[in-house]
Amino acid sequence: PRETLADLGIAYWKLDAEAFNYPVKSIPWDPSDAVDPDLVKIRDERGYSYADIITVHPDHLPEFDDKIKAFFTEHIHDAEEIRYILGGSGYFDVRDKQDKWIRIHIKAGDLMTLPEGIYHRFTCDSDEYIHAMRLFKGVPVWTPINRPCEDHESRTSFVEKYLTTTTTTATSSQDL
Ligand code: LAC
Ligand code: NI
Repeated sequence: PRETLADLGIAYWKLDAEAFNYPVKSIPWDPSDAVDPDLVKIRDERGYSYADIITVHPDHLPEFDDKIKAFFTEHIHDAEEIRYILGGSGYFDVRDKQDKWIRIHIKAGDLMTLPEGIYHRFTCDSDEYIHAMRLFKGVPVWTPINRPCEDHESRTSFVEKYLTTTTTTATSSQDL
């Protein structure tokens, strides 16, 4: 459910990807070329200054097999991961507060952000095709940091911010 994802720092928007034209591939893609007002708004509010557009498919992605393998290896990043799905679909798996996987079936029009330090992985679904815009604030770094990396500062700050629960007594929350 949406609230569970929000509690993990995951933001989500639904945009109309089909109403606008995006190239199959553009590295980079200038985010100031955005014409979709919804995308413009998110770009400006969150300060996304870099974008590129890739297609994950055996015909369009060099070293497809190796990339797919790396995407599906559980990892974190030292920055937010932002993906806007323009076509096709795939699965993002994220770890919940109990360290169990939550599978998110992402498809055209979905714009999702994963916070810095969250454990995640990606895989194509049976269609083996996803067309996506990757956005970034500043100079892009896509490098995955594979689990285990409990002591990495991106991980420790994620844990601090999202997984450390403060205990409240049952009565205090009931009585509010
Ligand atoms: C990435 C996705 C696969 O890091 O998480 O590009
Ligand atoms: Ni990632």
